[in-house]
Amino acid sequence: MKMMAGIGIFIVLGLLAAYMIGFQPIFGEKLPFDDEQTGLKDRIVIKFSHVVAENTPKGLAAARFAELVKKKSRDRVEIQVFPNGMLYSEKTEVAALRRGDIQMIAPSFSNMNAIDPAWYVMDLPFAFRDQQDVNRALQGKLGKRLFETLEPYGMKGAAYWSNGFRQMTNDVRPLRTPDDFRGLKFRVQPSEVLERQFNLLGASTISTPFNEVYRNLEAGVVDGQENTVSNILSKRLYQFQRYMTISNHSYLGYVVVFNEEFWNGLPSDVRLIIEQALRETTLWNNQEALNNEKGLRALANNADMEIIALTENDKALWTEKLNPIYKEFAQTVGPDLMEEVRRP
Ligand code: LMR
Repeated sequence: MKMMAGIGIFIVLGLLAAYMIGFQPIFGEKLPFDDEQTGLKDRIVIKFSHVVAENTPKGLAAARFAELVKKKSRDRVEIQVFPNGMLYSEKTEVAALRRGDIQMIAPSFSNMNAIDPAWYVMDLPFAFRDQQDVNRALQGKLGKRLFETLEPYGMKGAAYWSNGFRQMTNDVRPLRTPDDFRGLKFRVQPSEVLERQFNLLGASTISTPFNEVYRNLEAGVVDGQENTVSNILSKRLYQFQRYMTISNHSYLGYVVVFNEEFWNGLPSDVRLIIEQALRETTLWNNQEALNNEKGLRALANNADMEIIALTENDKALWTEKLNPIYKEFAQTVGPDLMEEVRRP
């Protein structure tokens, strides 16, 4: 009996000693100290979701941005990039960002007209001559106005990235003149301007998420689609498309967006680092997106794809045919923004 009491007192004293030196697993207040966990609570993780392949202007820019932020913040900020729509498609990424499930996205402009019709301006055919023309507009009144449309939705526009200009592909016939489009069916991004563009050319459209385009073409649900060289190449869309016309008929760009509440909650030094990294990435991206040469060569070397160049005369016919869009969408887009892209 005496021995039992002795053991009991020993256990109680042992527990007391353990408690006093700070090891309290049972009461759960403090966890054992672990060197490797130091600073973990200060780590900032930003989940960045996008829908294209890693070896495209947007995919490469996202990876470069993540690397720059890691370096500049000395590992304090981690940008976790989720490419290829592995987390969200373009249909669900805006809602996920607004809920705060992810903190950063870079949707293409055509997906943003669901937020505000002002974004239709970026889909207008032949609205920009080249990347410099686009930069001029986005760095001026137009870019500022488009960022402003995001604010009521708790989103912060932080940069514009580029993927260059769209080209036409299809599997039926070479597309040279507007008449060549008659009766064909094209996949488009979700945009009334893009639908109207094809309607004016005598073609019909369906809108599907980017990561379904390969299957759409494979199954023959559509005859063709419009996209940039890097997207056509990286998603192997050329496998089911015999013809590609270098039309440069419209621009495909991205708006880099943060969840605004998350952004405002970041320490100011972290915001500065991110802004600096974004500026550097954006400059690099604009160069990268222009560099289509390698991609074009890769497509030209693919024996099954015929690449068609438009003459000035062909282009004039396309422009003339598509011109009514400007009038039709003038009210939707607003006359002030229309002026920012309309060439004299
Ligand atoms: C598309 O055709 O949907 C793509 O251009 C999307 C993207 O983000 O480039």
